[in-house]
Amino acid sequence: HGELRGVVALDGPSGTGKSSAARGLAALLGARYLDTGAMYRAAALAVLRAGVDPHDPVAVTGTARRALLVQSTDPANSTTRLDGVDVGAEIRGPEVTLAVSPVSATAGVRELLVAEQRRIIAEAVEQAGGIVVEGRDIGTVVAPDAPLKVYLTADAEARARRRTKQDNDSGRATTVERTLADVTRRDDYDSTRQVSPLRPAADAVELDTTPLDLAGTLDALLAMVEERGLRH
Ligand code: DC
Repeated sequence: HGELRGVVALDGPSGTGKSSAARGLAALLGARYLDTGAMYRAAALAVLRAGVDPHDPVAVTGTARRALLVQSTDPANSTTRLDGVDVGAEIRGPEVTLAVSPVSATAGVRELLVAEQRRIIAEAVEQAGGIVVEGRDIGTVVAPDAPLKVYLTADAEARARRRTKQDNDSGRATTVERTLADVTRRDDYDSTRQVSPLRPAADAVELDTTPLDLAGTLDALLAMVEERGLRH
C-alpha cells in the first residue's frame, strides 16, 4: 500500500469506464484526479452561451480565452466552474455533447487548455505527489513523460450500453441505438481530426474493459501501478 508518485495518463474513447476508473484509482492511491474532458465541455458551454458558431475557430478561441474555467482535482468532488458557477450537470447535456467535438478540435482551444492542464498537473504533483489524468491526448501530448500510460478500449456496443445507463441514471432519457450512433460519430470525429487525434501513445498499455466491471478495471490498473513501482 501507499500513495501514488507521479502521473498516470488514462486515455481512450468514451464509454470505456475511463472516468469511473480514473476517479476510483486516484481515490485508492491518495492522488488527485483531472477530468480534461470536463474542461473541453465547459469551453463548449461557453461557446454555446456566447451564441458563437462552434465551427468558427477564431470566435471559438476568443470565447475560450475570455471564459474563466476552474477544474477541481479532488477525486471525491470533481467540480467544473465556468465564470464562477458550477456547471457539472449542464456540461453532460446533449447540446454540449454535440458542440464539444468541433470546439475540442479547435487548435487555439487545445493550446489554451493543454497549458492549463500542465499547470494543474505540476501543482498537483507538488502538493499531493501524484495525479490520475483522463482524456484523449494525455499520453501523447499533455503528459508525454508520464511513467504509466493506459489506453482503455471496449467494444462499441459495450460502450454504448455503459453511456446509455449513465445517461438514464442521470435523468437523461435515451436508447442504446441512439447512443451507439452518437458514440460512433464522436469517436470518428475525435480520431480523424487534424489536431491531437485520439490514438494510443507508442508506450501506452492497452486495456480492453469489455469483460470488466469497475472493480476488475481498478484491479488491472492497480497492478500496473505496483509493477512500475509508482506506489510509495
Ligand atoms: O471524455 P468526455 O466525453 O467528457 O470528453 C468530451 C469531449 O472532449 C470528447 O468529444 C473529446 C474531447 N476531449 C479531447 O479532445 N481531449 C481530451 N483530453 C479530453 C476530451
